[in-house]
Amino acid sequence: MRYTLPEDRIPTAWFNALPRLQEPLMPPLHPGTREPVGPDDLAPLFPMALIGQEMSGDPWIDIPGEVLEILRLWRPTPLVRAERLEKFLGTPARIYFKDESVSPAGSHKTNTAVAQAFYNQAEGITRISTETGAGQWGTALAFACRQFDLECKVYMVRSSYDQKPYRKIMMETWGASVVPSPVADPSSPGSLGMAISDAVADAVQRADTHYSLGSVLNHVLLHQTVIGLEAKEQLVLAGETLPDVVIAPCGGGSNLGGIALPFMQDATVRLVAVEPMSCPTLTEGSFEYDFGDTAGMTPLLPMYSLGHDFMPPEIHAGGLRYHGDSPIISNLVKTGRMEAVAYPQGKTFEAAMMFANTEGKLPAPETGHAIRAAIDEALAAKETGEEKVILFDYSGHGFLDLSAYDDFMHGRLLDA
Ligand SMILES: Cc1ncc(COP(=O)(O)O)c(C=O)c1O
Repeated sequence: MRYTLPEDRIPTAWFNALPRLQEPLMPPLHPGTREPVGPDDLAPLFPMALIGQEMSGDPWIDIPGEVLEILRLWRPTPLVRAERLEKFLGTPARIYFKDESVSPAGSHKTNTAVAQAFYNQAEGITRISTETGAGQWGTALAFACRQFDLECKVYMVRSSYDQKPYRKIMMETWGASVVPSPVADPSSPGSLGMAISDAVADAVQRADTHYSLGSVLNHVLLHQTVIGLEAKEQLVLAGETLPDVVIAPCGGGSNLGGIALPFMQDATVRLVAVEPMSCPTLTEGSFEYDFGDTAGMTPLLPMYSLGHDFMPPEIHAGGLRYHGDSPIISNLVKTGRMEAVAYPQGKTFEAAMMFANTEGKLPAPETGHAIRAAIDEALAAKETGEEKVILFDYSGHGFLDLSAYDDFMHGRLLDA
């Protein structure tokens, strides 16, 4: 029930969605002039190699050997058939999950963290600043910076900083320095948008420092495509051709892009984004140019947004509390290639508990969103008797989210 690939089957090139989109992506705009940004505008924040990837028209981009050497610590990740869950549901559907929780930091985020740290170090940068929501991205970047001897400064959304002290300890174990955000307002629970403002402000002040973003941007989704590329090969090992539906939780869109983009040209495959009802960017936001952060310092991106000053409630899926979405994901939703669904928090924890009690694995609250949608697809297949093939991204484990499970089991969960 577990489909593994040998080490030498890690993809050696990333899948670039940009030249394959039905409608080309609209350019990011300068926050001051509102003109399209050029590479020089982004140079204070990112290394040129990543700026190049952000705009590249090449269909495939080679993964540097130094990056592959580190990815090999946990990749290829297993593809697992959730047969016990299928039996419990009594569904004729076959449910597969791609287990990204086996990375050192516990989620998919490490795939891009390693690449970003590598390119920064290669261009002489010695320090990186970033934001983190649930703490998964911060831990991934702390791990990656340690591999390349870079200093790492993490601005952690205050509500997660308070809810998840062990995440902070994990980041510090890998040498990062972690502070709660917003730095200027200790009474605010914070949001990803605010933490991005803090991290960008840090990077622009120092010549030795670049900024690193864990989601949203084109190069981040690009680095995550190893997930879908491996899964495609593993499904064949499992005796399948293509899945009927590919599902992932969507915060800024990186693990969703990672698993779904390699299937974007397979017309029969449905692609589904799952988001929280309390932060319903794709299902209720409007498609517009908006800032990536709260303070309005980043370029304006063409995306579905709830407004850059939107303050999401303090749900446990901290990584899904983002007002905007990746331009690539937004483009796919706008053109009808991708669907989006939203669930209230309680429904996602019910699903996470069902998964833990059948498959045995305890998912991150973000991952619980994908599990909910996968279960609903499987139950729909039970109604119709269809042998549907469902693939979802198991984006991270929930070992450091136990207080969320405790809240759920004791009726303290905000069912927003
Ligand atoms: C486990 C997990 N899944 C999903 C997400 C959502 O992020 P993204 O949409 O960039 O994949 C996060 C973000 O922190 C996460 O930690």
